Amino acid sequence: MIAAPKIFVAGGSKALGSAIQRAFAQAGHSCLASALEPDLRNQRAVDAFFEAQQPEWVVYAAGKAGGIGLNRRAPADLILDNLLCATHVLHAAHRFGARKLLYLASSCVYPKDATQPIQEDSMYGSPLEPTNLAYAVSKLAGLELCRALRQQHGVDFNIAVPTNYFGPGDDFSPENSHVVGALMARMRAATAAGDPDLAIWGTGKARREFLYVDDVADAAVFLMLGHSWEGPLNIGSGSAVSIAELAQMLKAITNFSGALTYDTSKPDGMPVKILDSSRLAGLGWAPSVPFAEGLRRTYDWYLQQK
Ligand SMILES: NC(=O)c1ccc[n+]([C@@H]2O[C@H](COP(=O)([O-])OP(=O)(O)OC[C@H]3O[C@@H](n4cnc5c(N)ncnc54)[C@H](OP(=O)(O)O)[C@@H]3O)[C@@H](O)[C@H]2O)c1
Repeated sequence: MIAAPKIFVAGGSKALGSAIQRAFAQAGHSCLASALEPDLRNQRAVDAFFEAQQPEWVVYAAGKAGGIGLNRRAPADLILDNLLCATHVLHAAHRFGARKLLYLASSCVYPKDATQPIQEDSMYGSPLEPTNLAYAVSKLAGLELCRALRQQHGVDFNIAVPTNYFGPGDDFSPENSHVVGALMARMRAATAAGDPDLAIWGTGKARREFLYVDDVADAAVFLMLGHSWEGPLNIGSGSAVSIAELAQMLKAITNFSGALTYDTSKPDGMPVKILDSSRLAGLGWAPSVPFAEGLRRTYDWYLQQK
């Protein structure tokens, strides 16, 4: 049994960070309260926090992220905030002697044309997706800082690449939501308005991998509790659904009785995007929340917030 470490989850106020805190709690470990988290863009504040709290384990789940809208609207904010937050946290974690760290990157660090399912070693094989380049480069910079600290100083700093996640705490706003939150919010509004149909961008044929937020958190804690590894490690479910299949599932969950139409003048994006998570599976981890069940829980949470 590991002696109880002092744990800091950067980004603990939102969906993923708070799920990681809950997963640690289930494993018998408490985390520093997220109310203590300083503005991570402020180096002095981050240093003062690490000096005062001396966290021994750090999970980095912070930063600014969003859908295609935010990526188009605010690329400078995205790259700056993510560079600053990751640099300050990783640097302070090293200088103030954190024993173990997990940096959560994002699947956008892989090339646009990576062979599917995407293996960890396909990083840097060809150019990145241009629509979220600023965000992706900042996530890559954090990843490389983590890798370099491990290489140069021999610290137990590790990198994981979670697939798209969804769940309670997601952003459902039209400006910042990802596809699951966006479709849920639009279908609920269409149901309330009695709309006869709802148009979905693209052909509906694009296939995407999703993981329920508690499963991502469970994987993060599983890795923190028992593993140390070189390079990035994918966290995914290993299966994908088409946007049309997702829309049909959400139609049932939201009780939308209108027709779903597909606006084929809008882009599909990549035909398929799925991570190869066989390395993680080989360590003995598997997701436990079925996709439909995760969608139902997320929708219930969304209705409670409304
Ligand atoms: N969304 C996905 O599908 C996905 C997939 C793979 C990886 N990730 C990674 O997971 C992490 C969380 O992303 P998310 O999409 O879940 O975003 P999110 O819900 O907006 O969470 C971001 C967290 O970072 C905190 N944060 C942002 N700027 C901060 C600052 N300047 N100082 C202190 N805290 C700050 C936020 O706190 P406040 O609310 O107080 O601002 C929040 O707790 C990111 O590292 C992202 O790259 C996300």
